[in-house]
Amino acid sequence: MKLLIINGPNLGNIGRREPEIYGHEDFESYLESLKKEFPKHEIHYFQSHHEGEIVEKMHSADAENYNGIILNAGAYSHSSYAIRDAVAAIEIPVVMVHVSNVYARENFRHENVIAAKCKGVITGFGLKSYELAVRSFAG
Ligand code: DQA
Repeated sequence: MKLLIINGPNLGNIGRREPEIYGHEDFESYLESLKKEFPKHEIHYFQSHHEGEIVEKMHSADAENYNGIILNAGAYSHSSYAIRDAVAAIEIPVVMVHVSNVYARENFRHENVIAAKCKGVITGFGLKSYELAVRSFAG
C-alpha cells in the first residue's frame, strides 16, 4: 500500500513542542520506526504550516494513486473548510489522527470541521495514533 502522512502546522517540531502534551520523541525518528514496522508498505511524509500547500498535496496524492492519506491537520482541524473540501473532493480515503486527546483539552479543540469527511478519526494515543492509522489501512 502506498500511504501518505500529512502533518499540518506546528507538527514539524513534535518532541520539542509542549512535550507534556505531545511527548519527547521527534517525528522523523518515529517515522523511521514506523517504516520499519511496515516494510511492505510505502509510507511517504509531508509537513506544511500552510493550508493551501496541504490542499495541493492532497490533490496531487489523488493523481499519484495513493491508497490512503493519514492526516493530522493540527489546528486547521478545528477551522479549515478548505481542507475539509479537499478531503471531500479527492477519491483517496483519509484517516484523521491527533497525537493528543483533543476531547480532554480546550473546548475549541472539540470541534473538528474536517472529521465528518474522513473515513475515521484516531485521537489521543500519542505518536502511536499514526501506527493505528496505518493498521486501519493495511491490517
Ligand atoms: C493536534 C491537536 C490540535 O488541536 C493542535 O492544534 C495540534 C496538534 C494533535 O495532534 O493532538 O497542532 O492535532
